[in-house]
Amino acid sequence: MSKTAVVILAAGRGTRMRSQQPKVLHQAGGRTLLASVVAAVRAAGFAEGQIGVVAGYGLAAVQACLSGAAIRILPQERQQGTGDAVLAAQPFWSACDQVVVLHGDMPLLSAATVAGLAQQREALAAAAVLATAAPAEPRAYGRILRDPARPEAIVGIVEDRVATAEQKRIRELNAGFYCFAAAPLAAALARLGTDNPHGEYYLTDTIAAIAQAGGRVAAFPLADPQECLGINDRVELAQLDQELRRRKAEALMRAGVTIQLPGTVILDPDVEVGADTILEAGVQLLGATRVGAHCRIRAGAILSDCRLADHVLVRPYSVLESAVVESGASLGPFTRLREGAVIGPDAHIGNFVEVKKSRIGAGSKANHLAYIGDATVGAKANVGAGTITCNYDGVHKHPTVIGDGAFIGSNATLVAPVEIGDGAYVAAGSVVTEAVPGDALALGRARQTNKPGWAARRRQTAPPAKS
Ligand code: UD1
Ligand code: CA
Repeated sequence: MSKTAVVILAAGRGTRMRSQQPKVLHQAGGRTLLASVVAAVRAAGFAEGQIGVVAGYGLAAVQACLSGAAIRILPQERQQGTGDAVLAAQPFWSACDQVVVLHGDMPLLSAATVAGLAQQREALAAAAVLATAAPAEPRAYGRILRDPARPEAIVGIVEDRVATAEQKRIRELNAGFYCFAAAPLAAALARLGTDNPHGEYYLTDTIAAIAQAGGRVAAFPLADPQECLGINDRVELAQLDQELRRRKAEALMRAGVTIQLPGTVILDPDVEVGADTILEAGVQLLGATRVGAHCRIRAGAILSDCRLADHVLVRPYSVLESAVVESGASLGPFTRLREGAVIGPDAHIGNFVEVKKSRIGAGSKANHLAYIGDATVGAKANVGAGTITCNYDGVHKHPTVIGDGAFIGSNATLVAPVEIGDGAYVAAGSVVTEAVPGDALALGRARQTNKPGWAARRRQTAPPAKS
């Protein structure tokens, strides 16, 4: 097998984005353009150590985005064209047999294309293989030039800016994905000039040079011409975002997930959903969220990095982050789960209940207007409306423990650290500052006094209200 390097060109600013961020760090389909290209390369079977990213504008940001990966950043100090970018990367690929060159702003690139380019170049022992497309609509891409006497031979690429009217009629376009044999590429790059309207080093000019030197250049026609749609401005960013979202939704639907109004649903690329789950309109499943089978996620719910078992019901407009929900539990409407919330099997968390870093045991209920933070709630407990765990003393967080079968009356204030024993009751409106033994009743509020006739007397003596 040929020793292969993969070089992703990502140094350009993308002026038309009108952004301080480099273009490749904008997001479509739930990840950066660069991450989509890297994902295709990895899915094609290349290791991170084989991948280099040419960075220039916003280099530090690109580096930060790849931090932790073994992918090499290849600096291109001045952005003098795609040819210059591949030249800047030369120390990275020169010891390899072949180099795959990709553009970092084309997020629909498939793994099959990346693998196919490398395999085809090897199989044909070609000097270069380049991906081509013939989309129905015109695009201002480089046109593929062939020798009329030998139409199978590619002899060059002419950029849209310099193409003659006749050349502009050529429908075979340069997609911007290549695999070069290293030696002929090095020779062609060494002779590149900047005699063009941009005054840039065009990578595409290496094709004519390679052909003239007797190298074989072959086409790799893309099965789907959409694959080489790049992004130049935010309108195109939105279009490709929509396309990537559509594809993700379609893949899940084909795998047995019902999605109502799929155009309104946002599903990040790594999201998994089990069969017979129903996603209603406007649902967002983000990050590494995994939803089991037979769940129903109702309208407008937003889940980030959550794990839901099977048979979970999330009612409308719930917002869940980094939470775990076990089988048969139901949430919402308007539930908020924050990091570290673990909702046990068959538990019910209702409207305007916030749960953070807390475990709610099997079959327990907190149905209305509560804050449960840093707490452990046992099984079959009932947390009444308006219950607050006072977990924060202004400096430290403290735990609350609520035992199995405990009953916390409405509007209780549990001042942590505090423990409510199994089967205990807390009277409504209590402020609990001390441990409550199992099966006890805790009353922590002022005793009520009634003053008979007080209101009637007041009405007689008070001056009449101004109307
Ligand atoms: C390029 C091709 C064109 C092809 C089209 C497909 C050239 C000269 N033309 O044109 O034939 O049809 O792609 O989209 O290659 N970049 C760098 N450093 C630079 C310049 C660019 O890293 O100095 C990167 C950009 O960040 C971008 C990629 O190279 O990711 C492509 O550059 P771009 O300027 O968009 O090339 P096109 O004009 O689209
Ligand atoms: Ca482009």
